[in-house]
Amino acid sequence: MPAHFTGKNFILLDRVSSTNSYIQELLSKSTPLEEGSVIMAVEQSAGRGQMGNFWEAEVGKNLTFSILYKPDSLPIEDQFYLSMAVSLGICGFLEKQLSHDISIKWPNDIYYNHQKIAGILIENSLQGDKIKNSVIGIGLNVNQLHFESDAPNPISMKQISAKDYDLEEILFNLLSFIEYYYLVLKSNKYEYLKERYLSKLLFYGQYHPYKTTNGILNAKIIDIGPYGKLCLESDSGINYYDIKEIEFIL
Ligand code: BTN
Repeated sequence: MPAHFTGKNFILLDRVSSTNSYIQELLSKSTPLEEGSVIMAVEQSAGRGQMGNFWEAEVGKNLTFSILYKPDSLPIEDQFYLSMAVSLGICGFLEKQLSHDISIKWPNDIYYNHQKIAGILIENSLQGDKIKNSVIGIGLNVNQLHFESDAPNPISMKQISAKDYDLEEILFNLLSFIEYYYLVLKSNKYEYLKERYLSKLLFYGQYHPYKTTNGILNAKIIDIGPYGKLCLESDSGINYYDIKEIEFIL
């Protein structure tokens, strides 16, 4: 099923610093940009990852793009539901393409077994206590066979299936999966999204070691809290962590 509005306005750039920054710049100049606009780059000279990291993507071999959504009635404390929706869309797409289980490493890294195949960088701008614009940057490793940077455990679709993919063709297919879950969010089915997200979460309900500011903690994920915090249960009780406070030991 094709996407209805996501990618209807599609801009392909040969080279840009970062597709997220490109959309931010258009928004800052009040350039009208419709909901669902997609900017894709053949090459990003300064692709950005989470926590200020660089996003590695060999020129012309991967999907590096950003979507503009306007989830205008989403309160800030619920912003993580958007992240859940996007992660689930990417998982659904990859499971169909690769006929293999795909999981989400909290908060929103997409994993094939214990290797990272895609990353998401969501940047929201607010109006009052609601989200006005959300720039959703996605990097998906597609046809790249060698990774240079020291990013932990990258893997691409081609390394898994030995197939070469047509980037634009798979992009539009991926967009339809993302839009499906975005519409689930727009219809306020928060509990459904959370249930699906937890069912795909790496190490959900299993004891696993984590590095915290207080040392190594053996704990299990039991929930996701407000603002997307990770809820862990351990011998010392139940605690909530944000991304800077915890690291998975893989
Ligand atoms: C991560 O660190 O896992 C997030 C990576 C997000 C990379 C994508 S590529 C397209 C978009 N533009 C950017 O500069 N970053 C995102």
